[in-house]
Amino acid sequence: MNDLSFDPTDLEAMLWASRRPDYLSAWHGHVAFAHWLVDIAHPGCIVELGTEHGVSYASFCHATAARGRFAKCFAIDTWQGDDHTGTYSDAVFDDLNIFNQTYYGFFSMLLRMRFEDAVAGFDNGSIDLLHIDGLHTYDAVRNDFLTWLPKVSDRGVVLFHDTAIREKDFGVWKLWAELSDRYPSFRFDHSAGLGVLLVGRNQPAKLRALCALGDSPMAALVRANFELFSALAQRVSA
Ligand SMILES: C[S@@+](CC[C@H](N)C(=O)[O-])C[C@H]1O[C@@H](n2cnc3c(N)ncnc32)[C@H](O)[C@@H]1O
Repeated sequence: MNDLSFDPTDLEAMLWASRRPDYLSAWHGHVAFAHWLVDIAHPGCIVELGTEHGVSYASFCHATAARGRFAKCFAIDTWQGDDHTGTYSDAVFDDLNIFNQTYYGFFSMLLRMRFEDAVAGFDNGSIDLLHIDGLHTYDAVRNDFLTWLPKVSDRGVVLFHDTAIREKDFGVWKLWAELSDRYPSFRFDHSAGLGVLLVGRNQPAKLRALCALGDSPMAALVRANFELFSALAQRVSA
């Protein structure tokens, strides 16, 4: 089986310009995929753990707003940094806060707190798209996944950034190796790697088709296309 056919609507979403093109982030290469994912899965609630300048978060917000669907979106971060990003100043939060209020304020909230303090505020089974991009040690990312998993809905998708980084004490790759066989999944290797895990059973046909590609030649082509479209989207932004 594979009905992963990209129609003109898909291509339009993949080419939407990045909303935070000028900020330092390893996430730029996944913007086209984020736009496409939100556009086909239309999540009702999106939560991001780890936002910093908002490169990934803005792509989720932009995609939901672009079709007028307006998911409830929450970005959770101390906006102080961690052992991998290093500490940074309040200017990062202040800048993103103005951007968020200007463009997405009526459906998106920045929750400036620790992930573990925010989790009680979400109902079980309420999150359709969870992006885990906090501290990238094995213990931290495993704890984030297990803590937040009950909050993910029956059509929930969990994204893990940095699945391809094996230096220092980065351990997302190790958790990904454990999880990617337990759930339908797809992996991008560019831009530090992005893991896509279909945790909920009710998924759109295109997402199921993507995760059925495994490591086939078609999977490599799909990876290359999303990378290319992200680069094009960055050019469009510039
Ligand atoms: C890699 S950055 C996020 C990058 C961002 N997603 C992007 O698009 O570039 C990780 C962020 O997670 C935050 N963070 C790490 N652990 C945290 C925790 N337990 N609670 C709240 N924030 C945390 C840090 O402050 C940092 O801003």
